[in-house]
Amino acid sequence: MLYSFLSAAALLAPALAVVQPLNTTILGQYGHSPAVYPSPNATGAGGWEEALAKAKEFTAQLTAAEKADMVTGKPGPCVGNIVAIPRLGFGGLCLQDGPLAIRTVDYASVFPAGVTTAASFDRKLMYERGAAMGAEFRGKGAQVALSPVAGPLGRSAYAGRNWEGFSPDPYLTGVAMEETITGLQSNGLQACAKHWIGNEQETQRNPTYKNGSIVQESISANIDDRTMHELYMWPFANAVRAGVASVMCSYQRLNGSYACENSKALNGYLKEELGFQGYVMSDWGATHSGVPSIEAGLDMNMPGGLGLYGLTFGEASDFGGNVTIAVNNGTLDASRVDDMVIRIMTPYFFLGQDKDYPTVDPSSADLNTFSPKDTWFREYVLNGTRSRDVRADHGALIRKHGAESTVLLKNVDNALPLKSPKIISVFGNDASEDTQGFYNQVDFEYGTLVAGGGSGTGRLTYLITPLEAIKARASKDGALVQQWLNNTLVATSDISTLAIPETPSVCLVFLKTWAEEAADRVSLELDWDGNDVVESVASYCNNTIVVTHSSGINDLPWADHENVTAILAAHYPGQESGNSIVDILYGDVNPSGKLPYTIALSNDDYNGLPTTAVNSTDPDAWQAWFEEKLEIDYRFFDAQNMSVRYEFGFGLSYSTFELSDLAMSSCASANVSATPAPQSATTPGGNPALWENLYNITVTLKNTGDVAGATVPQLYLSYPDSAPAGTPPKQLRGFEKVMLESGESESVSFELMRRDFSYWDVSSQEWVIPAGEFGVSVGFSSRDLKVVGSVSVV
Ligand code: NOJ
Repeated sequence: MLYSFLSAAALLAPALAVVQPLNTTILGQYGHSPAVYPSPNATGAGGWEEALAKAKEFTAQLTAAEKADMVTGKPGPCVGNIVAIPRLGFGGLCLQDGPLAIRTVDYASVFPAGVTTAASFDRKLMYERGAAMGAEFRGKGAQVALSPVAGPLGRSAYAGRNWEGFSPDPYLTGVAMEETITGLQSNGLQACAKHWIGNEQETQRNPTYKNGSIVQESISANIDDRTMHELYMWPFANAVRAGVASVMCSYQRLNGSYACENSKALNGYLKEELGFQGYVMSDWGATHSGVPSIEAGLDMNMPGGLGLYGLTFGEASDFGGNVTIAVNNGTLDASRVDDMVIRIMTPYFFLGQDKDYPTVDPSSADLNTFSPKDTWFREYVLNGTRSRDVRADHGALIRKHGAESTVLLKNVDNALPLKSPKIISVFGNDASEDTQGFYNQVDFEYGTLVAGGGSGTGRLTYLITPLEAIKARASKDGALVQQWLNNTLVATSDISTLAIPETPSVCLVFLKTWAEEAADRVSLELDWDGNDVVESVASYCNNTIVVTHSSGINDLPWADHENVTAILAAHYPGQESGNSIVDILYGDVNPSGKLPYTIALSNDDYNGLPTTAVNSTDPDAWQAWFEEKLEIDYRFFDAQNMSVRYEFGFGLSYSTFELSDLAMSSCASANVSATPAPQSATTPGGNPALWENLYNITVTLKNTGDVAGATVPQLYLSYPDSAPAGTPPKQLRGFEKVMLESGESESVSFELMRRDFSYWDVSSQEWVIPAGEFGVSVGFSSRDLKVVGSVSVV
């Protein structure tokens, strides 16, 4: 399979927009990465002390060759493999993708994608999903899940992998990272937060090679220090604080130097500042050097040898035997290699992987197209049970999560929930069965989309389609269900000529948008003439309800059409897609999903566009200047005072809710200083003072409608004027999903930490709370703020 890291694939994406010029003025400020050496040794801080001691003892018993093996992948049964050292009772490590499923296996579940999960705005759901998915990884014998994703964060609406991650809002993504990692690791599994850092576009994520040599380097994500802290690092800080075992460095360059050999990113930001105690592994083929990468903080080379560009998989690794040679000839300090191994083994012992861990399911090896058996450097004995079914009752959970993450964007005259309609007409090529297999890596025409493509996809064992679920539900009402699945036919026909016998009670239109790894999206429109399909159906049917299964942002130019009575954004919901949407359509589940991004009025309104082409053969020509700084998604639209179609955090319910009684109380025992007390020792997540609660803010939430339902009060902070220029007008700093019966009220509280009130001051290199009044607003979206107050913190 060719999906992975072939830059050619990325280059195939047609040019979208800007070719950004090299800006030498800016180069002076950023676009340059300072050197940070040496690589900090692990201390076991944050409760890993005992595990660290075991890791040190283990490492002390290794030969030089074994140490080299520990830090270098080899082809084997899993997507990434560290070989066993049987004499020490170490069974090796099996690393498997990905963020919504364990991918290259049979009898496993496909869960809702990251973007879908973010739309739930539900901490508990995020944890439950992580815990259930983690049980499946463990059951199949994987020690490491290559999940979850906080990079891409979502700088650009077009980025091909946004759906694997959560949301362009760092606070929401931070919570999702923390909950997912805690859930995954509750199974004794290691999570891997990826891709560190600045991996905000797919185009030219890898260099261009000619005859085995680089002719153009990968894109350089040029990010200034403040933006780095307040946006892109933010959710990774949550991940480190949650005790994530590993972090994957990304393909592209960051401020001019490859992310996997960028000492500022690995030694500086991650290990020193965030106090990360686990190991950094490279993305597959993202290692471009041996000793320089190791000294910059890279601990594990994956998948080992490149297996790319004409090289044989498993050979030509920059690590492997080269690590031993470098130590022997004095170019690399032996203690650095020890720290690499110690970092790899500490989470292994901490999570109890030395005790009774399941072996790799032999069927996984058969399905692993990444390193098929003929590439293995030696025989693996896989004598565990074959084709273990690890799905348990996760189907029910996925159905529930899919429904609870669905966002209701429009609902006129209570078009939804459906009231036992008798004639249901279904339109669109997203309604029905997949026609090109259950391990989808292409934008096929016919079939519903439940996941995107690339390493973040899943391998379905079954799929409940919307049409199938609608038929099953409608039969209870004795309803007639008819379908027209050919988008071209629907888009170009007068619907009344398509043998529709009577006026339908409702027309349900199912449309989709594909996205995949290694390519950015070329358009924000629905695929397969989706807009024309809606126009055509709506010109005939005055009760047209549109459901989208998309990777993320879609243009919705027909949203105000009077015959479009309801719109539902279901994103990629996983294997129970049909049941999840039917539960919403018929009102068995009251919608409570909220948009984890902004839908603009026009595609031209979006900023942060990917660099899609360069007009130069200069090896260094590919540059992405993050000149919008902190202004991505709603921060940008707010700063520009622009109207949008559907704002960040928006989503309707079948009920109505009211907010009142904003109250604030300080949790600090003494006066709060503008900067945190210096930390005495490195701690995972950074200075612990940043995570201390400073304010408790409460509101009263009431369900004022006729039906039970959940909603999400969202808290936004506006910083005082004393904060530096460029501070966004408001930023999400709290959310809580609350379920209420009709007429019921509840007090909802938000704990705000020091980090929530701080900006990153580049000159003092410290988080600072600005003096003056913070605006505190709680509402039902970023633009529907119901109760407001203010507070001075310092
Ligand atoms: C490349 C992807 O970027 C990464 O996310 C994935 O885990 C590896 N390939 C392994 O498939």
